[in-house]
Amino acid sequence: MEENKPKRRKRYSGKYPKTFEEKYKEQQPERFQEVIAHVMEKGNTPAGMHRSIMVDEILTFLDIKQGEIGLDCTLGFGGHSRKLLEKLNHSGHLHATDLDPIELPKTEQRLKDAGYTHTDFSLHNINFKDLDQIPVEGFDFVMADLGVSSMQIDDPSRGFTYKFDGPLDLRMNPHMGIPANIRLLELTEDELEGMLTENADETYAKEIAAEITKSTQSGHLIETTKDLYRVIQKALSRLPRSIQEESIKKAAQRTFQALRIDVNQEYEALYELMEKLPNILKPGGRVAILTFHSGEDRLVKKAFQYYQRQGVYTFVTGPDLPSLQEVHDNPRARSAKLRCAIRK
Ligand SMILES: C[S@@+](CC[C@H](N)C(=O)[O-])C[C@H]1O[C@@H](n2cnc3c(N)ncnc32)[C@H](O)[C@@H]1O
Repeated sequence: MEENKPKRRKRYSGKYPKTFEEKYKEQQPERFQEVIAHVMEKGNTPAGMHRSIMVDEILTFLDIKQGEIGLDCTLGFGGHSRKLLEKLNHSGHLHATDLDPIELPKTEQRLKDAGYTHTDFSLHNINFKDLDQIPVEGFDFVMADLGVSSMQIDDPSRGFTYKFDGPLDLRMNPHMGIPANIRLLELTEDELEGMLTENADETYAKEIAAEITKSTQSGHLIETTKDLYRVIQKALSRLPRSIQEESIKKAAQRTFQALRIDVNQEYEALYELMEKLPNILKPGGRVAILTFHSGEDRLVKKAFQYYQRQGVYTFVTGPDLPSLQEVHDNPRARSAKLRCAIRK
């Protein structure tokens, strides 16, 4: 009987990879060009990759000349850096900073594979607010593309989104500072409400802050991204059914953004960058900054206007927005705003 027993058919595991780790093809973009092209055609960003935003607009403004010295404050996947290096064409030098010690070596290898060497570029695993640590006399051009990269968002182990379950971390450099799950224990209910309002204009800041506090005080620690999502669901459970699902999704997006800004002290870093720029730009130096939410954009706008009034910048532009075509091709570009300035 045992011999005749039909062999159990192997369970069909589905055609598409279910986890980030399984998306191995997308994570090695150089080897799987066709898969990458197909994912991008559908308006998605392949896992392990980042699509650079407003590249043409930035390059046009920066108007890079041979032999110039530049700085990319936010290296990320290296998409913008690579374009800047193309313009330099093995003359001058590009410096780039990024807080992320996990992605930086991968990007370094990518730039090397593209034919660039350390004669062309230097990478610095530092916060861009410390850009005066870079040993240069001054920069001819500087750019920053604020926020997080798609690689960071798409990696569940980094805890940047409620869409995948993972540790609630949210740090761009996981070796520094404190992760979001611990930060939630440090903040009082009032501080949480203030943080959600200030960093993300969260409509339900009061309700979410109260629910987070209730949860942690009753011993239910918020350790994972899904834990936090469930707390937000509970906080908004009294909303009418017709708007509940959409409201929870939006509130989760804003809550994760607010927490990320707090954990990485993003406003403090941007403020310091804006303050230091006038001193590190050479006369005639150009700076282009891409922002992704109103708080960031306001800070950049105010700083450029302030220094223009002081006679530091001769020319200030923006906000410029991505074209409809770019937003169609890459929905992650939809909230981008570009502001630029030229040092006197
Ligand atoms: C939107 S991505 C940049 C993508 C890049 N422009 C490209 O084309 O691939 C933002 C990057 O900036 C880094 N970053 C954000 N804030 C930073 C800071 N204060 N100092 C250094 N790097 C920072 C993040 O770790 C992330 O890799």
